[in-house]
Amino acid sequence: MNKQTEAFLTKLPDATSAWAEVGLARTHESAVLHVLGEATYTDDIPEVQGTLHAALGLSAKAHAHILSMNLDAVKSSPGVVAVYTAKDIPGSNDCGPIIHDDPILSEGLVEYVGQPLFVVVADSHDNARRAARKADISYQELPAILTPQEAKQAQSFVVPPMRLQRGNAQSAFERSPHRVKGELYVGGQEQFYLEGQISYAIPKEDNGMLVYCSTQHPTEMQHVVAHALNVHSHKIVVECRRMGGGFGGKESQSALWAALAAISASHLKRPVKLRADRDDDMLVTGKRHCFHYEYEVGYDDSGRIIAAKVEMVSRAGYSADLSAPVATRAVCHFDNTYYLADVDIIAMCGKTNTQSNTAFRGFGGPQGAIAIEYIVDEIARNLGQDALDIRKINFYGRNDAEGRNVTQYGQKVVDNVIHELVAELEASSEYRARRAAVIAFNASSAVLKKGLALTPLKFGIAFNVTHLNQAGALVHVYTDGSVLVNHGGTEMGQGINIKVCQVVAHELGIPLKMVRATATDTSKVANTSATAASTGADLNGKAAQAAAHTIRQRLAEFAVTTYGGELTAVRFEHGLIHVNAQAIPFEEIVGKAYLARIQLWSDGFYATPGLHWDPKTMSGNPFSYFAYGASVSEVIVDSLTGEWKLLRADALYDAGKSLNPAIDIGQVEGAFIQGMGWLTTEELCWNQSGKLMTHAPSTYKIPAISDCPEDFRVALFKNSNVQDSIHRSKAVGEPPLLLPFSVFFAIRDAVASVGAYKFNPPLNSPATSEAILTAITAVSKMANAA
Ligand code: MTE
Ligand code: HPA
Ligand code: MOS
Repeated sequence: MNKQTEAFLTKLPDATSAWAEVGLARTHESAVLHVLGEATYTDDIPEVQGTLHAALGLSAKAHAHILSMNLDAVKSSPGVVAVYTAKDIPGSNDCGPIIHDDPILSEGLVEYVGQPLFVVVADSHDNARRAARKADISYQELPAILTPQEAKQAQSFVVPPMRLQRGNAQSAFERSPHRVKGELYVGGQEQFYLEGQISYAIPKEDNGMLVYCSTQHPTEMQHVVAHALNVHSHKIVVECRRMGGGFGGKESQSALWAALAAISASHLKRPVKLRADRDDDMLVTGKRHCFHYEYEVGYDDSGRIIAAKVEMVSRAGYSADLSAPVATRAVCHFDNTYYLADVDIIAMCGKTNTQSNTAFRGFGGPQGAIAIEYIVDEIARNLGQDALDIRKINFYGRNDAEGRNVTQYGQKVVDNVIHELVAELEASSEYRARRAAVIAFNASSAVLKKGLALTPLKFGIAFNVTHLNQAGALVHVYTDGSVLVNHGGTEMGQGINIKVCQVVAHELGIPLKMVRATATDTSKVANTSATAASTGADLNGKAAQAAAHTIRQRLAEFAVTTYGGELTAVRFEHGLIHVNAQAIPFEEIVGKAYLARIQLWSDGFYATPGLHWDPKTMSGNPFSYFAYGASVSEVIVDSLTGEWKLLRADALYDAGKSLNPAIDIGQVEGAFIQGMGWLTTEELCWNQSGKLMTHAPSTYKIPAISDCPEDFRVALFKNSNVQDSIHRSKAVGEPPLLLPFSVFFAIRDAVASVGAYKFNPPLNSPATSEAILTAITAVSKMANAA
């Protein structure tokens, strides 16, 4: 952090003072454009004359050597202009974000069904797609590994296994009075952004390239394109006005599309658009990692966990992509809200012949936390206790005096509000009364069974790769007093732009309508991080605040020079600058400042303080702070069909001092329903040859409006970040995805009622109706055998 930034961070205007533009419910900055259909997504950009369209030829085999690839029929297909293979890539044939094991186009080895082999460029999107199907390819097939369990068995990993140990979990386990052992499988999830992957590359003079790309990470796209074209980064500009959703799927995996559009455009010297249709998008790109867990946990008579051992293996797919940091986050979220004294966690990234799995909202956090929730749920049933009581007894301590407040990776939990938050939700949701009602209902209902669960969450905020926690912004004040802000974050619907605009308006004391955010552009703010890890508003908000503050200081000094008075008494409020007992319109002072040759634009930079991480010992302070939340779900299950419905959901989320409660509540609602889909209806199925069979909404079931609970009560917990985050707010993008754990455990509770709550239903995720029915059958068998 530079001195200037550091100095001002200590004397910010307080969001609670009379003037405020932060902390208020404001509509999404593009809401009106969204509704009118006027918001420009990449495919809506008016096409430059001569634009061509590309499509990909994909591997039909999961693991094979390509013996021959005859592309004559592709080349002679109507409208085709060119076909390119790996040998046509001028620079490096790689789009891997961390490890360079990710070819843009196959060089003879294919490692999953759907791997891109060639790109065909034609005069229309349809002609390109038709041509792509006409390749004549012969393969020599190799054995394929499809599941994480098989990968573990074969010790086939994309990165070396990682292990985090604290204390001696084995001996603690052995001396535990009670033990649970088991296995769990939690499936993956397709990001299902409404706008698919797309890039539009326009050649510029002197080997330059402008790439419009639907991406969470313009800087990485710039790097990948520069390397593929073998030019310096300064020749490449990547721009993203907005995405129609990213959800992690466009953090690294927009690169393939950006690179191939740019490679084609560079050869042809014509603009080339590469827009994936849904099936290709789902066949080619990676998804949320599925995980398989084997656990052994010891606990005492009260249900308190004494020892926890877990081995988790994810389906990384054929290349590393972001699998290592995803696994790291899973390891760092295995505790969720619980203090685990003696732990031994092993995480493996199984190399499989499937799409290379990648970031998806939560980034391994949900996969880490659901395992301990499954275990806590079993402990409660084994002891005949309400799961909420077992959860509470395992919560992190409130403070140093209580102890039990250091995570397994060594970070002290200094902001724990889970006790208060859960108590508030327990009361407002009438959890205890509804528990009694559910039990009474089930006693008199033979077929329909109700279930209820309250689950908590704690989520670490920061990129778990320390250096990524930085951001930059540019703020321009024009002479009419209007303001333009450009920052390194990308808008994917989450509302980062409105939040950043609010921060800038607040800082300059002007109405929100005077501030506009531009498209994200690598030629404006350089070397940005992905908008990810829920840090977008945290990082870019701080950077934009720093830039605006610099301008505010200059204007304040100029105002005092012009009108007299004390510098410290100058206030910026309601579009006025209060100086020496006068209130002068902001734009009037701006106009005069311009004439006095005062710089009216500034940059700003922010780097999150206090972070460190040692990957070898898996310890340190990887997170800036924790966000908390909890939810209660009540479901009804038909025990003859496995059909179910969410009757009511209550969610309480800790957004600190929310920058924008309307946006934040929207994020909580969206994440809840998205997470519910992951845990219930969204099932990825690969056939025995390794082909993903669920590659369209016809076979892959995301939640619809009819799946949302009629009674859905979402609220924000009153809190203030103990860390000096932007106006003491907390991140909201990913953590609420863990809230619908309560849906899964409510279903498991309803299933358990079939066996009088005596047996732990073996229920994997997603809890589809089939899976529910299988679990009911298993519980009935256990009950009959007992
Ligand atoms: N909300 C919408 N509408 N669309 C998205 O693609 N992505 C999520 C979350 N909320 C997403 C979203 C993910 S994965 C992340 S990391 C955060 O938004 C990123 O934005 P933020 O850091 O600015 O909150
Ligand atoms: N989240 C998202 N992307 C990332 C992270 C993370 O924690 N770490 C590295 N890339
Ligand atoms: Mo979000 S998975 O960090 O893009």
